[in-house]
Amino acid sequence: MLRLSGVTKKFGAYAAIEDISLDVRRGEILGVIGRSGAGKSTLIRCINGLEKPDTGSIEVLDSDDVLRDIVPLDESELQKVRRRIGMIFQHFNLLSAKTVADNVALPLKIAGRSRAERKARVEDLLRLVGLDAKADAYPAQLSGGQKQRVGIARALAASPALLLSDEATSALDPETTTAILSLLKDINRRLGLTILLITHEMSVIRAVTDRVIVLDHGRIIEQGPTERVFAAPEADLTRRLLAAAQLGLE
Ligand SMILES: Nc1ncnc2c1ncn2[C@@H]1O[C@H](COP(=O)(O)OP(=O)(O)OP(=O)(O)O)[C@@H](O)[C@H]1O
Ligand SMILES: [Mg+2]
Repeated sequence: MLRLSGVTKKFGAYAAIEDISLDVRRGEILGVIGRSGAGKSTLIRCINGLEKPDTGSIEVLDSDDVLRDIVPLDESELQKVRRRIGMIFQHFNLLSAKTVADNVALPLKIAGRSRAERKARVEDLLRLVGLDAKADAYPAQLSGGQKQRVGIARALAASPALLLSDEATSALDPETTTAILSLLKDINRRLGLTILLITHEMSVIRAVTDRVIVLDHGRIIEQGPTERVFAAPEADLTRRLLAAAQLGLE
């Protein structure tokens, strides 16, 4: 679904990510962990074209099932690629003056879908995330978990093949986090969606990911199947992150 080869992104002299190579298989949930400043958000921003890497290629499977490098693309070409990539954020990024239904419909409106199509699709999406009763509510009337469900429904509106999640559960309490994670897992199973999940919460990684990558100072210092990494971490930092998580310090 996604292949990064030798991707480096510098801010001035500082490499926020350095020589990252990475394959994400279709239907896989891949977790990326690391301390604050490790380069997690920069990695995700390169993948959806919000940042241009200085070196390397980022190939995304297009609608003809061909891997295409997005690095050389201009902004209008990138916008087309982004329709295949959904994104959810820590702070939900909902439009406060629009209803839940209108927030979810936004990507469809941008894609030029008819009013009737939008209505039917939004109904389906809100049912999928369990928010059909809140279609006419405004974001301020929702709990954090409900807001993130709206964010997920909106991210799925244009039927993306890849979902990028940057700390999507970090603003939520543990119980709501669990509910959002099972929703993501369920969507992954039902729609075959590929998910790249970025978080500093080890418990989140353990709960849903198939494979995990540990970033430190912009480099991959460990990767493997989630079970293996948790059972027998190889890198010192991974062991420390796990120990901190066990103490509830994550
Ligand atoms: N636009 C920018 N300009 C300059 N430096 C940046 C910019 N964006 C990120 N950085 C730097 O790159 C490094 C990686 O930042 P990034 O946001 O990717 O980290 P992160 O792993 O997402 O951290 P966190 O867990 O705190 O969200 C940091 O040192 C940060 O200061
Ligand atoms: Mg970040």
